[in-house]
Amino acid sequence: MCGIVGYVGNEEAAPILLDGLRRLEYRGYDSAGVAIQEASGIEVVRAVGKLRNLEKALFDRPLQGSVGIGHTRWATHGRPSEVNAHPHVAGPIAVVHNGIIENHLRLRAELEKGGFTITSDTDTEIVSHLIHRETRAGHDMLTSIRRALAQVEGAYAIAVVSEAEPRRIVVAKSSSPLVLGVSRNATYCASDIPALLPYTNEMVFMEDGEIAVLDPDGFSLSTLAGEPVNRRSRKISWSPVMAEKAGYKHFMLKEIFEQPRALEDTMRGRLDRERADVETAEIGLSDEDAKAIRRVILLACGTSHHATIAGRYWIEELAKLPAITELASEFRGRDAVIGEGDLVIAVSQSGETIDTLMAAKEAKARGAKVLAIANVNGSAIPRMADASFYTHAGPEIGVASTKCFMTQLANLLMFSIWLSRRRGTLSEGEAREIVEGLVRIPHQIEERLEAMHEKISDMVREFSNARDVLFLGRGLSFPMALEGALKLKEISYVHAEGYAAGEMKHGPIALLDAEVPVIVLAPQDRHHERVCSNLQEARAREAKIIGVTTAGDAQTQSLCDAFVEVAPVHEVLSPFLTVVPLQLYAYCVADHKGTDVDQPRNLAKTVTVE
Ligand code: F6R
Repeated sequence: MCGIVGYVGNEEAAPILLDGLRRLEYRGYDSAGVAIQEASGIEVVRAVGKLRNLEKALFDRPLQGSVGIGHTRWATHGRPSEVNAHPHVAGPIAVVHNGIIENHLRLRAELEKGGFTITSDTDTEIVSHLIHRETRAGHDMLTSIRRALAQVEGAYAIAVVSEAEPRRIVVAKSSSPLVLGVSRNATYCASDIPALLPYTNEMVFMEDGEIAVLDPDGFSLSTLAGEPVNRRSRKISWSPVMAEKAGYKHFMLKEIFEQPRALEDTMRGRLDRERADVETAEIGLSDEDAKAIRRVILLACGTSHHATIAGRYWIEELAKLPAITELASEFRGRDAVIGEGDLVIAVSQSGETIDTLMAAKEAKARGAKVLAIANVNGSAIPRMADASFYTHAGPEIGVASTKCFMTQLANLLMFSIWLSRRRGTLSEGEAREIVEGLVRIPHQIEERLEAMHEKISDMVREFSNARDVLFLGRGLSFPMALEGALKLKEISYVHAEGYAAGEMKHGPIALLDAEVPVIVLAPQDRHHERVCSNLQEARAREAKIIGVTTAGDAQTQSLCDAFVEVAPVHEVLSPFLTVVPLQLYAYCVADHKGTDVDQPRNLAKTVTVE
């Protein structure tokens, strides 16, 4: 959480920093600020609230200079206020930071004892004073930052400017993400790729424990201990247009509509239709590895966790392997039994979620093999994993994940097919049916999207005032019910629960009355009859029923107050279709209520704090 950006070149820095921050705003948006090297020294402008407040402040007080750093904040230490906004200045030094300095209280006391005046409640200001203390002792900028960081415990990506060396930015990283961008006559840094896409495709991913000096001609990279690091830039294939709204009202809506394309891109070259198999040479796991796995443990958080529940069902059913899902935050520090023979699949859109990263590291340290499923190339989780299987959804900007979830499902199903073919648990005929079905899914989503959006926008008028909403599903529809409830909660602030339909009578049924809409996922599958019984139980309590049904299932539809149809598919494929109306439902309710769909309150896209 929090986004940082830096520019050193020959153009005016302020518009480039603002543009970068706009593209990073999804990472945090309670305050923002920039520090620019003006002819007379470093000047800082900060503002509380959304980026437009900073834009206005910069309009009133324009800053001129071609070297600068910027920050958009998601508060961890200290409430959102101008004094707590970054950059933080100490003497000739200004710092922006993403992460958490864990020993900041001890360092604060030590600095205050040494006569330093700390004006904010943040952990970041401590870093700026530590660097200042080292520069006062006569060290140059790079050495000062190295020495300061040696005293710091915790997670950080920092960018620093100093009046003593006005044509440079120094950046360093431990745990929080940081990418450098290089172009002719300018060098950039940012927390995430989209901030830099309009300026360059040439990027360098920094590793933990590295520090870099940026100037207009490029960068020099080394470890914090002083060892030089030689790393070439890589070309990123995402285009800047991919990170724009393209005429949609919100990024979330655009990303829902992009799902057919995201799925096609993710499956391209991986489905071997001739052999009814999955081509996963890129993963780097051998057929022997597939046979040696004794158990699969799927680790993730939030929406990605819901994808892993579907993944678990697929792995059990198709590959006949024991599989469990774990919330990464609960796995950590619990002394879970794990070791050789276990395959951990760590699923993360950003590839940077700290709980997932740390849990996967813990599992690896205990002897498990780690496979990463991530959307951001070169991010921390794939980097630490033994093998990686990327989703190709393109940049996801809306804070509520949609298209990345869809592509996580695709990778998990493809991996399950691959495993089952190697383990001999899925016949060619069954595999062919699933592979051919999967190929048709993007079209089956696409052909209904427009009409489904229209129908659901009308439908929510009746239901958008509900205070509570229940989502019910069985089997593979259960994780989709969880996902539907999470989407609704996070962007419309309506209380929602996802429940295994069979569990309703063990508690939540007490909530039901005529005011509570119940969204029932009832595709034609082996659970259909029992789900319909649960639907009837809810109806008997006068709840309003919204059904997600297979097209033409008039009998189920006759039990619903409203319904949405999805195409008939092989039952293992139903999640790809049933989740779409739930995403649209959440979107339409939020849009109807006028909430900030792409940047819901209190959330951030990438959660790099524990
Ligand atoms: C909800 C959402 C979050 C993320 C979670 C994990 O819409 O996006 O619940 O799924 O923060 O993030 P990643 O997948 O980046 O590890």
